[in-house]
This record gives sequence, structure tokens and C-alpha cells, in this order.
Amino acid sequence: MTRLTIRRPDDWHLHLRDGAALAAVLPHTAARFARAIVMPNLTPPVTTTDAAASYRARILAAMPAGARFTPLMTLYLTDRTAPAEIDRARASGIVHGCKLYPAGATTHSDAGVTDIRRLDATLARMADTGLPLQVHGEVTVTDVDVFDREARFIDTVLAPLAERVPNLRIVFEHITTRAAAEFVRDARSGIAATITPQHLLLTRNALFAGGIRPHLYCLPILKTERDRLALIEAAVSGNPRYFLGTDSAPHARHAKESACGCAGIYSAHAGIELYAEAFEAAGALNRLEAFASHFGADYYGLPRNTDSITLVKSPWTPPAGYAFGNDTLVPWRAGEALSWQLEASVAS
Ligand code: DOR
Ligand code: ZN
Repeated sequence: MTRLTIRRPDDWHLHLRDGAALAAVLPHTAARFARAIVMPNLTPPVTTTDAAASYRARILAAMPAGARFTPLMTLYLTDRTAPAEIDRARASGIVHGCKLYPAGATTHSDAGVTDIRRLDATLARMADTGLPLQVHGEVTVTDVDVFDREARFIDTVLAPLAERVPNLRIVFEHITTRAAAEFVRDARSGIAATITPQHLLLTRNALFAGGIRPHLYCLPILKTERDRLALIEAAVSGNPRYFLGTDSAPHARHAKESACGCAGIYSAHAGIELYAEAFEAAGALNRLEAFASHFGADYYGLPRNTDSITLVKSPWTPPAGYAFGNDTLVPWRAGEALSWQLEASVAS
């Protein structure tokens, strides 16, 4: 196959940042995706519906001319998020979930939740109102091996939570392990997962190929080939519990190429093309549309998009860097050819 036209996809997990960084990255997402679930881990984090509304307005103000893109906002849960805030979020119509960052798990997660059991009243309100919980699924205890933190989280936090609040809708974000794929497959209804392109295409070997590769460092960290194969199997399975979420997470070049580099892979410049590569390698390009354009919208109770995009099999090479305010942003696959290219957006 050399051309593929699919219903326009959505990105169900995205970091857009703010200010000059937002202006730099938004055109890439808006050219491909109709909507995105926008992560709230700004500094300070987006913890209230009012803050989400202001952030949404800044995103809309940064939109390139002619673009049609809808940001779907989220709130950042803290130990102090009250049930009344959930009511405000629901009433606003612009907030589509609350993000659980275990405190200290990743970039800008210091204000996150220290003990999820303290939030049961808030989570119960989310369950009652149907507002999904988006979960960064890693334990933060430093004596757990970094490669085991997701599996440990399932056993000690996520599985008990899913039982304790039985109607809570939970998106297990950016799953990276066979254990996570199997947990989601076998879980009660209301539990789904997003899968990133990097976890479909790479293993932890890529982090050390010929030297340390800071631009491939993300959290949860890349895992083994056995895990990658389980994620591929999940993504192409046609099971609606698994859907697209790039977790594109831009950082300035100097923050990545550092003695203590930030976690995050920038993929929005090729946010659908990378998935096409992964699905094609699995012999499952015919499953891409449902994963990218149907299952997420269905889960979130939103209409599927009505227009389409076309991908063409025609190699192109992302640049060494994009302008990023006064800095440079190094995209994933900088200087390395990608096989699929976005051709055109065809209005319905
Ligand atoms: O690699 C990551 N980067 N993982 C996260 O959970 C956060 C993200 C970021 O915001 O940079
Ligand atoms: Zn993320």
C-alpha cells in the first residue's frame, strides 16, 4: 500500500506546554489531529477549572491561521483537589479528565498525589459524574527498579483503585509493558489505555545504541522487546480499550543534552506517520484507523471526526531541530528518514 486515507485522528495524550514553546509545537499537532487531551503539568500545574479555561484560551490564541483543532483540557490532581472542583470541571464542558501524577514520578509532578487513598471522595465524584481519570502508572519509590515501576504500580495502586471505586473510568496512560497490556485487556469495563509511538517502535536498547541517547529518554522508560511485542499486539488487536496517545513531550535541546536530562520524546511533527510505520511493520495498516480515529473518541463519548487525512508512502527526513522560543527542539528521528508522509487534509 502506498496511500492510506483514514478518518482524521485525535491524540489522547499530549504535552503542549505554554508561551513560545506552545506556539512552536501546536502547528504540528493541529496539522494532523482534530483534538487532543492536553496534559496539565505546566509550572504551576493546571489544578482548577478556571486555570484550565485560561490555558485553553492561550492554546486557541496560539493556533496557526486556518487550523481547526480542539484542545480537550485536563486537571492536575493534588492531595487537595476537592469534589466541588470535579463538579466545576464537569459543568464547564471543557475539562475531559483529571490526571493522576504520583508525586515525583516524572517531569513537573512534584505537586502530584502522595497517597491516592486520600482522594477517594474526589474520585467517587469523578465516577458519579463520568469524568475519566488519566493515570501516570508508575510507583515513585526509588528502591523499585526503574524498569519495574509500572508493573509494581498495577499491583499496588491501580488494581486496588479499580476495585475500590468500581465505576471510575480510568485511562492507563502510555502503557509500556506486557503486564500493563494484559491488565487492561482483562480489566473491568471502563478501563482503557493509550500507547505511544516510541513504545511501539523502540526498546531500551535504543537508549544506548552507540552511546547514550538523551532524546530517547522518556518516562515510563522504554522497555524490552518482549514488552514491545505485547504493545504491538494490543495496538493492532482491534480491541477498543487501546488507542492512540503520542505523549509528545517537548523539551529544549539543552534540557535534554544535560548531565541530568529531562524525560520526554518529541513526536508531534510525525505524530501519525510514526504509528503508520509501526502498524505497517506489524502487517496491520488496516487496523490503524480504528486505533487512531475511533476508539479514543468512543471512550471519551465524543463524536468521531468527519474529515480525513491521507498518508503517502514517500520518505522524508525530519530536520535536526525546530525553533523553540530562543532554543532548539530536537525531534525524534531528526536526520533519519521516515517512510510515511502526511499528504493532504481532505475536508468532508
Ligand atoms: O517522558 C515524559 N515526559 N513523561 C512524562 O510523564 C512527562 C513528560 C513531560 O511532561 O515532559
Ligand atoms: Zn505525558
